[in-house]
Amino acid sequence: MSVENKTVIVTGAASGIGRETARILMERGARVIGFDRNRPEDNLDGFIEVDLMDPVSIDKAVDNFSGQADALCNVAGLPPTAPINKVMAVNFVGLRRFTERMLDKLSPGASIVNVASLAGIGWSGAIDGIKRFIAEADFDNVDALSTELGIDQERCYFFSKEVLRVWTMQNWNTWRDRGIRINSISPGPVETPILQDFLDTLGERAEEDMRVMGRAGESSEIAAAVVFLCSSDSSWINGTNIATDGGMEAHVMGQIYGF
Ligand code: NAI
Repeated sequence: MSVENKTVIVTGAASGIGRETARILMERGARVIGFDRNRPEDNLDGFIEVDLMDPVSIDKAVDNFSGQADALCNVAGLPPTAPINKVMAVNFVGLRRFTERMLDKLSPGASIVNVASLAGIGWSGAIDGIKRFIAEADFDNVDALSTELGIDQERCYFFSKEVLRVWTMQNWNTWRDRGIRINSISPGPVETPILQDFLDTLGERAEEDMRVMGRAGESSEIAAAVVFLCSSDSSWINGTNIATDGGMEAHVMGQIYGF
């Protein structure tokens, strides 16, 4: 799986899945530039501070990156315990702005990898609201628009990941003239510092995931898929979502469709 000599941007590189993604990439010879609101403890090839809740900080962080990247891993995210406007800003509005501002600094053939979630599985049932959110959401209206679309605290994390999955599919062809592809991966519960937030707030859904699977995933099991999507080995994978959940998505589908 070759990522050797590739330059890869990893958001959320200070913790959990992002940290592990950065570690594996470097182990395999990539040059990793981490973006996070917290400084990573690990020694990366570069680190640029960014607050994905703040458009000014995002633009400044992108300006501060002077190179060209072969892959962009959008891993940073907030759990459902955070306030609605922050969840929607970091998990989608900020991620999108960061990605769009970074496009000029992506090399031809670059890969964009968005870490979504099993929580985004129900996107098709909310498609009208998702389309509106993608079309209209920005930092200054994220609160009002979420309220208008009926997105409450319980729903916001699910909705943020549904939106991210749809935005990923929607853009499969957007930068095709430069060979830039985009995919999402969707973990189920993962052993990271925010696992307990998920278990506390997602209730029955998360409890069932844990019951059926018997354990949470490890960060390395998710990061391996992110690294694969950065590599040229995944060159024909575009505009899709890869479940990295030990089988939970298949389990949910079986329940819905009765197989
Ligand atoms: P984590 O809390 O260990 O790491 C998240 C990283 O994002 C942290 O380094 C944090 O500083 C950074 N971050 C948060 N807000 C930020 C902001 N405003 N600006 C810049 N950086 C910010 O979490 P974990 O578990 O590694 O999560 C990574 C991604 O995986 C998230 O998108 C999450 O939604 C997703 N995910 C996690 C699951 C889990 O069970 N842990 C399950 C499914 C998806």
